[in-house]
Amino acid sequence: VRAPATTANLGPGFDCLGLTLDLWNETDVDLSGSGSSVEVEGEGHSTLPRDDGNLVLATLLARLDELGCERPAGLRLRCRNRIPLDSGLGSSAAAVVAGLLAAETVAGRRPSEAAVLRSAASAEGHADNAAAAVLGGLTAVARDGDGLVWRSWAVPRLPVVVVTPEGHYSTGEARACLPDSVPLADAVANLGRVPLVIEALRQGDLDLLGRVMVDSLHERARLGLTPGATRAQHVAREAGAAAVAVSGSGPSLIAFVADDDGARVVGEALAEVFASAGVSAQVRRLATTTRGVHVTAGAAGGRGDAGDRPTA
Ligand code: HSE
Repeated sequence: VRAPATTANLGPGFDCLGLTLDLWNETDVDLSGSGSSVEVEGEGHSTLPRDDGNLVLATLLARLDELGCERPAGLRLRCRNRIPLDSGLGSSAAAVVAGLLAAETVAGRRPSEAAVLRSAASAEGHADNAAAAVLGGLTAVARDGDGLVWRSWAVPRLPVVVVTPEGHYSTGEARACLPDSVPLADAVANLGRVPLVIEALRQGDLDLLGRVMVDSLHERARLGLTPGATRAQHVAREAGAAAVAVSGSGPSLIAFVADDDGARVVGEALAEVFASAGVSAQVRRLATTTRGVHVTAGAAGGRGDAGDRPTA
């Protein structure tokens, strides 16, 4: 199962907009043998649980139970993780959607996007990363009573620079620093920008993106949690980034740039800001993608067909 990194909010689209990034966690699911086990390579190698406290395995088992499907005698997960944890890049959404899609495949079902998205959103508590991870591309999601409504759009492949400063904090902590109510003028400012962010990303219009990927609700508080972050947002713009947003609840920042040269210059500028603030930071040059979570058949012949993804 390949599950993508996602960036949520995209400036003004707090809790509703999401976008997939071409950075993937891959989980091999092996049903031979007996007992369950988890191996983790890459991100989270020394911290993630290897037992059924592991989010991918826990989600997989819970979904099998929900489907009334017997747990297989042997269940070996091998996770190759590239998405950093607690970084604002949707690592928990990736784990949840991977577990859900694995369960549906193990159960021999053809999973529906709607079912996977509803389960992932309820596990996550907010649906923006989950929507992007399931649907791929640019996504908008809203609550509809107890349900959800969503749409997704393809976007051109856009180069981005993602900087992840150390000092990871949880999404819960980053939500706790937000006020319970906001001034009407700030809400209105964000409302006007959201459809324009969607249009700018769909068209790859970086000039427009630079004018509207601006937030009045959550970024200021989150930038304040990491030394150097407020300055980094300004410096990346000065170095040529078209737009810079806090990725999800942070601490990562995502900068949209015109091309590879722009990515190099902005990446260096971001690394320098955090270094001079005494904060170590990892810079990744990535790109957007239109693909969401999907299953590929393994060498030993998985039950899923190559390229399986949830159906609409
Ligand atoms: N919309 C969520 C937040 C995303 O900003 O708290 C968390 O990744």
